[in-house]
Amino acid sequence: TLTSYSALPRALMALDPGGYIAWIEPDVRPELVRETIQKKLSEIQVPASNEVYVALTELEDGEFILPGFVDTHTHAPQVPNMGSEQIDHSGQQYELLDWLENVTFPMESRFKDVEFAKKVYPGIVQRFIDCGTTTCCYFGSIHLESTKVLADAILKQGQRALVGKCNMNQNSPVHYCEPSVASSINATKELISYIRSLKSDRVLPIVTPRFAISCTGELLHGLGDMLKADNTLAVQTHVSENKSEVEFTKSLFPECASYTDVYEKHGLLDERTILAHAVLLEDEEMTLIKKRGAGISHCPTSNFNLRSGMAKVGEMLDRGIKVVGLGTDVSGGFTPSILTAIQHASICSKMVAVQFAATAATTQPTSDSHSQFANKQLPLATLLYLATMGGASLCCMTDKIGSFAPGKSFDALLVSGRPETKNPAMWSLPDDFMESSNRGNHYDGEKARRRLDEMLERFFFGGDDRNILRVFVQGNCIGGTALHSLAEERN
Ligand code: GUN
Ligand code: FE
Repeated sequence: TLTSYSALPRALMALDPGGYIAWIEPDVRPELVRETIQKKLSEIQVPASNEVYVALTELEDGEFILPGFVDTHTHAPQVPNMGSEQIDHSGQQYELLDWLENVTFPMESRFKDVEFAKKVYPGIVQRFIDCGTTTCCYFGSIHLESTKVLADAILKQGQRALVGKCNMNQNSPVHYCEPSVASSINATKELISYIRSLKSDRVLPIVTPRFAISCTGELLHGLGDMLKADNTLAVQTHVSENKSEVEFTKSLFPECASYTDVYEKHGLLDERTILAHAVLLEDEEMTLIKKRGAGISHCPTSNFNLRSGMAKVGEMLDRGIKVVGLGTDVSGGFTPSILTAIQHASICSKMVAVQFAATAATTQPTSDSHSQFANKQLPLATLLYLATMGGASLCCMTDKIGSFAPGKSFDALLVSGRPETKNPAMWSLPDDFMESSNRGNHYDGEKARRRLDEMLERFFFGGDDRNILRVFVQGNCIGGTALHSLAEERN
């Protein structure tokens, strides 16, 4: 849940051959493992002709598994720009609109060249995978063919994803703008049929109007109609990220009460909607988003980097907005790592709290005692939730991913804090702490759980992709340092 998770030091989990979790026994003594497996197998009806394979994997000390991360907002064709070309002529970091024009659109427009897409997309997808992102919501470029290439790469490399091509038919550079509403809609429909023709339940299409500024009302209406006609389609876009952007949007759509209302009025706001950023939402916009059941992707790295501001995530959670997931928003954000998004979400919540205390000191008590989350630091459990179940909820996939439960897909990370990872951050614990506490006669359950909590916290704040040994989607290992070093050994 938002405020708690179970740390299970002696859990036993079984997968079926399809990569689904068959069962979980939360606490099994080591000497009873084989017996428990025999008992479980005898309970399952196995057709006599089927052979049953049992592979036992025991985690080493200092390792644990975690549900895979969900990145609810990122831009695949911006990865080549990551961490560079962000400074304007006066040496300042660009803000959103200038950054889009000067940095982002020139790179995205290169994906007109399908060969370029074929060359770079596979590596880009693998970078997200190796950061522990098992499910990813990707914005492609405006180009149909290159976005098909992106979907192909994701399918081949085994990640779970929602993939969309951007719709843009106004306020965009001539070389990076769709010529008409019809061509934008047709290309979108074609991408959707193409992705569905791949017949994968892992890679799904998503309608992707870039943001209100880049779409005419007619185009937004057309996309809204597509959603109305097909209730399995989802939609992703940007909302209220930056002050100039909000002002420009309001000037373009004067008939709408707010930025969010633009999406509402064009049939693009419901429980299948993922809204990125939401830094500057007005009170009525939060109410509307809550009412429609839309989700918000919190992209703190990008919001800091582009100087957009700090989203009021605590307040959104208090209001029960279908929660918030985390997004890396590359290359507004300078890394594809959800771990960094976790760290920045934590810092963002702390700074919102500091700011609240500073302004409230003159008028009210310094802590917000009426709220559970607003103006407070997000707890560890909440950060974990946002990165996993919150993201699953945004993607409408809570029946499938986001946590470990029988019937769900095994989308998971094998995390190691062992010295071999070469990242001492998780290992530099007090001596007795890393001592084995989960086997032998003197098992201390409480101590073992505290140790897992400690490792999770150290992974979140000191860990990086070196600590991610294996990344699993649907039971298949598709990334992580252990997979890559195995491949190297074979070569
Ligand atoms: N708003 C419209 N397009 C973009 C984009 O590519 N990145 C970010 N951060 N905001 C946007
Ligand atoms: Fe974005």
